[in-house]
Amino acid sequence: MTAAQADLQIDRPTVADGAALWRLARDSRTLDLNSSYSYLLWCRDFAATTAVARDGHGEPVGFVTGYLRPDRPRTLLVWQVAVDGAHRGRGLAAALLDGLVARTAAEHGLTALETTITPGNTASERLFTSFAERHGARVEREVLFGTGLFPDGPHDPEVLYRIGPLSPSL
Ligand SMILES: CC(C)(COP(=O)(O)OP(=O)(O)OC[C@H]1O[C@@H](n2cnc3c(N)ncnc32)[C@H](O)[C@@H]1OP(=O)(O)O)[C@@H](O)C(=O)NCCC(=O)NCCS
Repeated sequence: MTAAQADLQIDRPTVADGAALWRLARDSRTLDLNSSYSYLLWCRDFAATTAVARDGHGEPVGFVTGYLRPDRPRTLLVWQVAVDGAHRGRGLAAALLDGLVARTAAEHGLTALETTITPGNTASERLFTSFAERHGARVEREVLFGTGLFPDGPHDPEVLYRIGPLSPSL
C-alpha cells in the first residue's frame, strides 16, 4: 500500500462487516444494491475470496467481493468493488484487488480473473485494465448479460472482462 493508506489494513471480512459492505455499496450510487441479507451471507460463506480495507477504528472503507467459479475453480469472479468517497483516487481499490488475488492464488491457485463492467464506468475499466497490465495478462471482453436479460426495467449490458493468464502462485 502507498503511504496515503498506511493507516489502512486489508484483511478478510467477518459477518459483523456485512452491514458496512451494504452501506458502502448503497453509498457508491453506482453499484447494484443487493439485499442486506446477501452481504451478511457473503461475509459468512465467501470471506476467503473477499477483502476489506479497514480504517484505524476497524471500520470497512472499501471492499472487493469475489468467488471461485464452481465450474472453473481457478477463476476468481470479482463481483463488486467499492471504496468510500473519502478514500478514492489513492490506489486503494488496486491494493484491495492485488491483495485478494495474491491471497486467493496462494490458497487455491488462480489462472484467471473475471469481472463484469457496465459500459462507461471508466474508473472500473481503468482498475481492471491496470490490474492486467501490472500482471502481464491479456484482457478479453465480451457481452455476458445483454440488456434484454434483465427483468427489472432498463439495465445497462454487463460486459465480461476475462483477464489471464495469471501465475497460479502469484
Ligand atoms: C471504482 C472504484 C472502486 C475505484 O476506487 P479507487 O480506490 O479510487 O481506485 P484506485 O485509486 O485504486 O485506482 C485504480 C485505477 O482506476 C483509475 N481511476 C480511479 N478512479 C477513476 C475515475 N473516477 N476516472 C478515471 N479513472 C479512475 C485510477 O487512475 C487507477 O488507474 P491507473 O492504475 O491506471 O492509474 C471507486 O471509484 C468506487 O467505489 N466507485 C463506485 C463503485 C464502482 O463503480 N465499482 C466498480 C464496479 S464493480
